[in-house]
Amino acid sequence: MKVAAIILAAGKGTRMKSNLVKVMHKLGEKPLIFWPVNAAKNVGAAPIIVVSGHQSEKVKEFFSGDEVLLFAEQKELLGTGDAVLSALPQLSGFQGNVLILCGDVPLIRPETLRDMLSSHNNSGATLTVLTSYQEAPFGYGRVVKGDNAEIVKIVEERDATDEERKIKEVNSGIYCVAADFLIEAVKKLDNNNAQGEYYLTDIVSKAVEKNLKCAAFPAKDPDEVMGINDRVQLAKAGAVLCNRINTKYMLEGVTMIDPLTTYIEDGIIIGKDTIIYPNTCISGDSTIGENCIIEAGVTICRSSIGDNVTVKAGTIISESKVGNNTSLGPMAHLRPGTVLGSNVKIGNFVETKKTVMGDGSKASHLTYLGDAEIGKDVNIGCGTITCNYDGINKHKTVIQDRVFVGSDVQFVAPVEIGENALIAAGTTVTENVPPDALAIARTPQVNKEGWRKK
Ligand code: UD1
Ligand code: CA
Repeated sequence: MKVAAIILAAGKGTRMKSNLVKVMHKLGEKPLIFWPVNAAKNVGAAPIIVVSGHQSEKVKEFFSGDEVLLFAEQKELLGTGDAVLSALPQLSGFQGNVLILCGDVPLIRPETLRDMLSSHNNSGATLTVLTSYQEAPFGYGRVVKGDNAEIVKIVEERDATDEERKIKEVNSGIYCVAADFLIEAVKKLDNNNAQGEYYLTDIVSKAVEKNLKCAAFPAKDPDEVMGINDRVQLAKAGAVLCNRINTKYMLEGVTMIDPLTTYIEDGIIIGKDTIIYPNTCISGDSTIGENCIIEAGVTICRSSIGDNVTVKAGTIISESKVGNNTSLGPMAHLRPGTVLGSNVKIGNFVETKKTVMGDGSKASHLTYLGDAEIGKDVNIGCGTITCNYDGINKHKTVIQDRVFVGSDVQFVAPVEIGENALIAAGTTVTENVPPDALAIARTPQVNKEGWRKK
């Protein structure tokens, strides 16, 4: 049976107390709305219609270029029922089941949706509601059942009687509905309730009235259907997601010293026997090889790291490539465009930017390498600086294989150093240096005897 999806995301999210629309707040580095859309894609839903309203331009921009998605604009926020009503034009001609998801229920797993869909198809229900049992059901719509445990209606917190508020089975806001019934039912909703809104939840009683079969499908894991209404719930969902992602990596052979403080974006590749220490963030399509050690306080973003790499504490790596057996940090900063070969050493307080460094080269301490092309087995002494910026333009420093650079050297770019040359400590290099040469540019030392005693 064909499946389409409608994702409700027009609300402002008043309880977030934010200038940013709720569904664009981030969970695991991605906006909340990404997650249900992704789950719908995973179960093959098409079309997927996102109902946006508040800051719809931000939502559209995030998904720009996505060909599966359609958008519907809810002009006035008259409730979840009205939100579905505004999606109907995009659904015209569709026959099959419609999966309704909420933009603020991000932790839903595709597996659960798949189970719900097959239960829906097997039971012959017109409407299946994904429910969960919450120990603290406050704020959720309650699932009211009849004498034969059949679902009778959903009642919102604010409309519920004291007796109904005791019910722990709650509405997740996720449903699977036969398209023809949905289209008819949402047109007939009214707003006679405490909030004066058109509640989507009332389609349950509409189905019951018509003697159509309704089913409640309880999610095994109540965390999965957690709704995010405020920042406390956002943080809780973050912890659940973090645990879910980290568990997967650990089961695949990655050691985490403290998974509670290890933040890894979903979809990153990490090789086995890599050890990750606390307070680390790895995001943005990064890959990490096998047998690496990622020490405490490291941030890695949009980068690829080879095998057997040690990244020492406090190092930041973004948009860079690091070869095998390389050692970085502590407190190194690899900025975009850094490409390091294997067996490279970048030590403490070394910053690199748009710099390529060949196999076996070293910059062990206190150095800035920007717009540089450095060959193999080059030694960069402590305190070396590429003076790449003249105030207007950036210029390149080229250092060929096996050059030895002493401490405290400045390369005033553009400048080129031939292979095997030696640059004496304290030299300010302003001209090219031929291969095998010694370059020295410093005033000779003068010792004034007895100076201090005078
Ligand atoms: C809703 C359900 C409640 C359920 C809970 C689960 C209704 C009436 N209530 O309550 O039974 O337990 O979700 O999390 O459906 N939205 C729109 N347009 C609107 C109103 C809302 O697009 O006019 C969107 C919101 O952006 C949000 C979703 O619908 O993504 C849910 O709306 P929200 O106001 O958070 O509903 P709840 O009070 O949480
Ligand atoms: Ca909600």
